[in-house]
Order: sequence, then C-alpha cells, then structure tokens
Amino acid sequence: MSTTANTRAPDLTDQLRIWVDGTVYSDPSLARVSAVDHGLVVGDGVFEALKVTADGPFTLQRHLDRLTRSSRAIGLPDPDHGLIREAIAAVLEDRTFVDGKVRITYTGGPGPLGSHAAFGPPTLVVAADGRILARPSAAVVTTPWTRNEKGALAGVKSTSYGENVRSLAYAHERDASEAILLNTASHVCEVTGSNIFFVYGSEIITPPLSAGPLAGITRDLVLQWCDVTEANLSLTEAQAADEVFLTSSLRDVQAVHRWDEVQFSADPVGPRTRQVAELFAHRSAETPEP
Ligand SMILES: Cc1ncc(COP(=O)(O)O)c(C=O)c1O
Repeated sequence: MSTTANTRAPDLTDQLRIWVDGTVYSDPSLARVSAVDHGLVVGDGVFEALKVTADGPFTLQRHLDRLTRSSRAIGLPDPDHGLIREAIAAVLEDRTFVDGKVRITYTGGPGPLGSHAAFGPPTLVVAADGRILARPSAAVVTTPWTRNEKGALAGVKSTSYGENVRSLAYAHERDASEAILLNTASHVCEVTGSNIFFVYGSEIITPPLSAGPLAGITRDLVLQWCDVTEANLSLTEAQAADEVFLTSSLRDVQAVHRWDEVQFSADPVGPRTRQVAELFAHRSAETPEP
C-alpha cells in the first residue's frame, strides 16, 4: 500500500456535467453565472459536496437539510430541494462513471460590488463528475492559522473557503494532503475538508461542535454507528493518540499515518481505524439515506 501523500485532487474530467438555470452543460466554459454574482464578488453563498455510488447520491437528504441550515445562517432564502433533486437527476442522467461526486452551489445571486445583501434571485449551480477514491491514509500538517469557533461562519458550509484553500496549499507545500486547524482556544478543531477523530486504546474522541468544526455528515454517521466521545484536545494531547482518522463525504473514513513529525504506526491504517472504516462501508452500503 502506498503512503505517498495524495496531494492533488483529480482534474475535472470529460464526465463533468453542470446544471445552470435548467440547462445541462458538459463544457464548463459555457455554464455561466453573472459577473456580479454575490457568491463570486464576496463569497456570499453556501455549498454541499456529496458522493455518488452505484446506488446514486449518498445521504442526499442530509446534505439538502444542511444546505438549508447554512443558507439560513448567512441570510439566504431557503433553497428549493425539489429543484435541486431535479438538477441532480439531470446531471447524473446517462452517467458513465460509478463513483462520482455532486457539488451544489447556492449563492445570493446578482448583487452589489460590496458586502450589502445581494439583489437576487439566488443562483443555483449543480455539477457532477466522476471521482477517484481516496487513499486509505493521509499525511497531515498543522497550519499556523486559527479557526474562529465564535465567528459568524463557524460551522457553516459557506463558499468563503479562501482560508481552506490557503491552508490546503500550505499542506501540499509540505508533502501532506490535509491541514489541521486549531481554534482560538488552541484546541484541535477540524481539517480543511474533513472532521478529525482520535483513538486512545478502545476510546474514540472527536472535537465537539462548540469547537467550531463543520457538522460533518460523515462525522454524524460515525457518531451514530460507533461509541465516540466528544471532547476538546490540545495539539499535544491529540498527537499523543494511538491512531488518528479523518471523515468526509468524499473520503469516508481515512487514516492519518503522519501528523507533522509524528508517525502513528507501522501500518498506515491502524487496527481501530480499520474497524471503523469497515463498519462505515458496511453500514453505508445498506441504504443511501442512513
Ligand atoms: C471544513 C469541513 N469540515 C468537515 C467536512 C466533512 O463534512 P462531510 O462529512 O459532511 O462531508 C467538510 C466537507 O467538505 C469540510 O469542508
């Protein structure tokens, strides 16, 4: 098994399909929104990313519900779940891939060249593409920047992901594929695109939502299916774990084999992480809406 850092997401493929305003495009340069879209101008938007398997989209209802919660948190009108489902069906029609992803982007729509509210109507873009499955383990680094667990966007899946882009680039520059963010209390919060779990013997710990992470849907399922305690940990405490793993919709459960200078075990995937990953795979194969 390779433990080389998976530092590059695959490029868009020729299986990409993008829905804008009722039309599906396969050429992204033709799928357009306004140049004064408030999502583009100030990042006034929310999004979801979910996996597609042979059975179709996984946990779609949970993602739609979180999109609504994120929209309310930043003051956008509730998104139309029926329309989004139609758009997803349209971009997945005649798909040639088995494993894929869907990205839903929902913004304030056309607006001013500043931070006053968008004029609307909101913009909805739904894209689907094939995907390469995540590696079983990842190397991660701690970023020098802080996640503000008391900020207006804490826990909101907003399109204002500039900090995440910068943090991920920081990780890539250090031959790692993910970056760990601490919060203002110096507790471990989350990763740029994942939640984080720590294994100490038979105990599994993850940061509570009050620490500022996104309420990950994969995190939620792991909490539902496994015995997990929510607790705040300092960097030193977290790096003293026997095993560490990440969760997200597009990586499921992924072991961490190296964190900064700390190597976790001879086997890149520790035994407890392997159990959780197998249980997750088994339970999520039972139904697409667990
Ligand atoms: C910042 C952040 N934390 C956690 C997650 C994991 O959430 P989920 O399991 O819902 O994909 C994501 C997913 O993209 C994320 O962007």
